[in-house]
Amino acid sequence: MSDLDVLLREERSFPPPESFRRDALVGDDALHREGAADPDAFWARMARELTWIKPFTRTLDWTPPHAQWFADGTLNASVNCLDRHVEGPRRNKAALIFEGEPGDQRTLTYWDLYRKVNQFALVLDRLGVKKGDRVAIYLPMIPEAVIAMLACARVGAIHSVVFGGFSPESLRDRINDSQCKVLITADGSYRRGQVIPLKRNADKALAECPSIEHVVVVQRRAGAPGDAAFTEIKEGRDHWWHRLMREARNADGGFYRAPEEMSAEDLLFVLYTSGTTGKPKGIVHSTGGYLTAAAATTKYVFDLKEEDVYWCTADIGWVTGHSYIVYGPLANGATCVLYEGAPDWPEKDRFWAICERYGVTIFYTAPTAIRAFMKWGPEFPARYDLSRLRLLGSVGEPINPEAWMWYHEHIGHGRCPIVDTWWQTETGAIMITPLPGATATKPGSATVPFPGVSAALLDSAGQEIEVGGGLLALTRPWPSMLRTIWGDDQRFVDTYFSKWPGRPDLYFAGDGAKRDEDGYYWILGRVDDVLNVAGHRIGTMEVESALVDHPAVAEAAVVGKAHELKGQAIAAFVTLRAGHAPSGALRDELRDHVAEKIGPIARPDDILFSADLPKTRSGKIMRRLLRDIAEGRALGDTTTLADPGVVASLKDQYEAQE
Ligand code: PRX
Repeated sequence: MSDLDVLLREERSFPPPESFRRDALVGDDALHREGAADPDAFWARMARELTWIKPFTRTLDWTPPHAQWFADGTLNASVNCLDRHVEGPRRNKAALIFEGEPGDQRTLTYWDLYRKVNQFALVLDRLGVKKGDRVAIYLPMIPEAVIAMLACARVGAIHSVVFGGFSPESLRDRINDSQCKVLITADGSYRRGQVIPLKRNADKALAECPSIEHVVVVQRRAGAPGDAAFTEIKEGRDHWWHRLMREARNADGGFYRAPEEMSAEDLLFVLYTSGTTGKPKGIVHSTGGYLTAAAATTKYVFDLKEEDVYWCTADIGWVTGHSYIVYGPLANGATCVLYEGAPDWPEKDRFWAICERYGVTIFYTAPTAIRAFMKWGPEFPARYDLSRLRLLGSVGEPINPEAWMWYHEHIGHGRCPIVDTWWQTETGAIMITPLPGATATKPGSATVPFPGVSAALLDSAGQEIEVGGGLLALTRPWPSMLRTIWGDDQRFVDTYFSKWPGRPDLYFAGDGAKRDEDGYYWILGRVDDVLNVAGHRIGTMEVESALVDHPAVAEAAVVGKAHELKGQAIAAFVTLRAGHAPSGALRDELRDHVAEKIGPIARPDDILFSADLPKTRSGKIMRRLLRDIAEGRALGDTTTLADPGVVASLKDQYEAQE
């Protein structure tokens, strides 16, 4: 049965439990009604919950596809996440509860975080970072990552966080694309008991990054900071974080660094994500609009209360970490758990141990993790007291109803609403989601647009589909929408606002979805050449470029195939250059080569060697047929192939390999 068929048969519905609804911030349809009645006024009200230096008078300027929100207002994101809390009763509240993979723990109050962010802002000053400069952050999940991001925001620098699992080459390309001036990294990062040599990786990248003037290195590894065998410090360019922080003082001898006054439309960050070409896109986000939507969605989607302990398990290198570990929760003054390592280290119960240890009340993770928990078995969560949990979230990929039900029963004990949140790097904040006290949930459905957000399903001709399947579009601008692609506004227009000719106001999300009779959305997945492997976005072209970069490879085609745990896995079809013969060793070498070029998340599961690839008469590789082969389906229409024999022989080989 296909995913679509499974979803079409899903009829279970879970209204908000009465005990939850009674105390919820939103227990009825009032917020949805407010958003529908006047979306701009709704967002303006949300924006006014932030602290502005100069209040805005204009809400939206919309010249499709370019939008500006709150453009004449000024603010600083770090003030919203810190200063306004330390002035009041949250001063001594835990902001971050950190647990490292080896078991080390640190709690930073709002005051601690405020002080450190100010100090690091002074460090950035000293390194010559100015408003509008770009700063790359390549760090593990440690408090310094949050401090670095907020310090950039404080001085008006644009941060570009690069996931610590990315390779030196990926880091290099991202640094160079936006010409970062400073890189912040660490000597190492713990993962499944190993130390990933982040600084060594960074050094490889930096050999080809002329724009970098300074590198700040956090000492994460236990041991002496001068362990030169592990971490080389290049005199003049590289600096230990702790030394700079010790010396960080302003002219008055204090630690305070006045926040830059930023226009709402000034950029807060750039974050790279995969698209349909080989080159990752630098998604650009604004300050005022982004923060408005990140803060409002955190508050209402997670029903955030003062006493909650909130844990989002994403990495700061992805947008989920930006919006739902850093900006959204901290703007709301929440207590956030930050965990560095793997969920199965040293045992498969680590997440549940953390939930019990800190009394986590709100837990937000990805379906790929939930499917792994399911496979490991319910005995791991059953060892712990999870009775503090009151709300669960899911993000990053479609959640199959079976995983949803398992999450509901074994983690939520039937008592916690589940918010399945659909959104993207580009949308900056959650777009389609239940409000947990107001929306009845259905396993596998992200339900309905957040108040003030308008979505629709369209066919390729632009006809709206009320009930059935179609292409997902957002039909009105929203405050946290990407403003452009770094250095390539034309690509921004072409990718997101050109799907329906004559309609530059419609945002094309790249996802297919279905809508049921109740107006609920069921996201089916990408309709472009973008894969979603364990919740990570990877472009097929990126993997193909990495493969053809290997001297043995003549041509490569990459497709996604359904995978029980990861959602999708990468299958590659490769033709070799003359003089190279297929072998198991070469297959392993190619898989490693891709992991080295992009990062371990892009390592293909399958590689099939082939004498030829199925192409149309005009030379286009027919990926649809390759997907059929990789997923073991009957072959679709092959009549447009230049050489139908190719695909039959590929299918035989693939099956023989399995
Ligand atoms: O295909 C959708 C899927 O993840 C894509 C966005 O990936 P990224 O920009 O890396 O952001 C991930 C975290 C927001 C989308 O185009 N996706 C995200 N959330 C869901 C989802 N698919 C189904 N259900 C979701 N809740």
